[in-house]
Amino acid sequence: MRRVLLLGLTAFCLCVFVAADTKSDRQEERPFPEKDGVLQLKKGNFKRALRKYDQLLVHFYTPLSGEGHRVSAAFEGAAAELKGSKVKLAAVDVSKEKDLAKELNVTGHPVIRLYLSGDKHNPAPCPVPQSSASILTWLKRREGSAADLVTDLSQSEASEELTVVGVFKELNHEYVQVFYAAAVELPDVRFAVTQDDEVIGKYGLTHDAVLLLKESKLIQAYKMMPETSKEELIVFITVYQMDPVTEYTGQTASQILSSPVLNHALLFVNKSSEDFDEIFSAFSSTAETFRMKILFVLVNVAEHRNGRLMEYFRVQDFEAPLIRLVNLTNHVTYHLPSDTLNTEHIEKFCQDYLEGKAKPKMQSEPIPEGWDQKPVKELVGMNLEKVAFNPDRTVFVLFYLPYSKESRALFPLWEELAEAFEEREDVVIARIDASANDINMSMQGAYPSLCLFPALYAERVVVYTGPRKLKPLIKFVEKEMEKAKKYRVKEDEDRRKYIEDMKAEELNV
Ligand SMILES: *[C@@H]1O[C@H](CO)[C@@H](O)[C@H](O)[C@H]1NC(C)=O
Ligand SMILES: *[C@@H]1O[C@H](CO)[C@@H](O)[C@H](O)[C@H]1NC(C)=O
Ligand SMILES: *[C@@H]1O[C@H](CO)[C@@H](O)[C@H](O)[C@H]1NC(C)=O
Ligand SMILES: *[C@@H]1O[C@H](CO)[C@@H](O)[C@H](O)[C@H]1NC(C)=O
Repeated sequence: MRRVLLLGLTAFCLCVFVAADTKSDRQEERPFPEKDGVLQLKKGNFKRALRKYDQLLVHFYTPLSGEGHRVSAAFEGAAAELKGSKVKLAAVDVSKEKDLAKELNVTGHPVIRLYLSGDKHNPAPCPVPQSSASILTWLKRREGSAADLVTDLSQSEASEELTVVGVFKELNHEYVQVFYAAAVELPDVRFAVTQDDEVIGKYGLTHDAVLLLKESKLIQAYKMMPETSKEELIVFITVYQMDPVTEYTGQTASQILSSPVLNHALLFVNKSSEDFDEIFSAFSSTAETFRMKILFVLVNVAEHRNGRLMEYFRVQDFEAPLIRLVNLTNHVTYHLPSDTLNTEHIEKFCQDYLEGKAKPKMQSEPIPEGWDQKPVKELVGMNLEKVAFNPDRTVFVLFYLPYSKESRALFPLWEELAEAFEEREDVVIARIDASANDINMSMQGAYPSLCLFPALYAERVVVYTGPRKLKPLIKFVEKEMEKAKKYRVKEDEDRRKYIEDMKAEELNV
């Protein structure tokens, strides 16, 4: 009896084993969901895809991102070209597959990786491709060597596209490997290698060099040294591939933000304004001086699509023209302290910044000691709103730029105004340095700006546009106080009613 039971048990176990085996076999064979030749992977089938495909190029994306869309299109194009090859393309939606992304250490997006021989730990990172051709070029260059780039230059030299030409006497130099490694990382750029004496003679080279050619013209040359690194070479190529000044647009944004140059100078300017040409010319000539160190970007404030960028830098269109520097490593910004944007001032600003001597622009300066002791109160970003929006005080604020003559010319007048109201507890005359403090309210008019905040619960600003003389200013304050008083009666009534209603509600409860 007992033996029979045991036998039965063994048979059962065997059955389970057999069943399990065929099940996993069937799983291995089950096709992966595909879209336009690209595998759609999830946590449940990612490992199986790794086992099956020796070379798996995976695009980790989030839907709705513009760059993600472009890469997806490039993947579909490349999938058609790579049909039957040993490389399989795949995509993972990281907005849905959070666990898988975490397990694979995928941060940011888009991320593109080539997984080799089923190893999930050491994928090769693939640069974000501009097109399907860049994917194919990248895969090809990964497997090749500098010798594959040896070309007859007569055709590519005349090309409108930039060509990066390595002029090397021997191909066995270590820096030729560095050159080739840069070519792998920049699949969207055309690379060539030549050992042609004619080319060496034509450009008067006495040393191995990397030339940037466009339409048969030499744009820039880089002397290859034993210590030249791949990173340096990539900076050189990506910088000279762009114009000295790049305008920020939907098309250039990703090129600007992915630049290896992490110091950016931004000129916020209205391109239709009269002084544009003059300012742009000063900005451009400075750009030439600081190439490879600082990337120069033009932002047209009259273009509404730049609204988000301007919001990020807290720049309002009436403040233009102005120049900001930003260190993209720590996101600290700096404001050019001058209202004359000429070459001399821009160059000094850039030089000071690089030497660590520029003063960062802050959300707010610290509140100065004794800020409310003098007739004119000194406000900073931190206490501006608290002081200005006071329902019991009329507050008149001068927003000034300390380096501007026009601003400074108003200081004595502001002192006089403060003295005129010195005995009045309900009037505050104040000023704030608009260059050192972020102004968190929407205002109109360029600096210097004279703004009155009436004694109301409502957060209201009245901009003074009359003559900048004592008498009209006093008259303006008094008139606005009269107006506010009437409005305040209404406000108080509304509040009283509101409070009564609340009490009635409470009683009802
Ligand atoms: C992710 O990172 C952790 C910590 O660095 C490491 O232990 C783990 O192996 C990584 N996972 C993969 C798939 O590489
Ligand atoms: C830009 O300048 C033009 C011409 O002076 C003007 O009409 C336009 O309103 C300005 N735009 C902004 C946003 O300042
Ligand atoms: C930019 O920030 C990084 C990180 O804080 C710092 O090391 C670097 O010196 C800064 N660059 C400049 C030019 O200030
Ligand atoms: C300005 O407003 C933003 C959000 O609206 C806030 O995070 C920031 O602290 C404010 N800055 C100052 C100086 O009050």
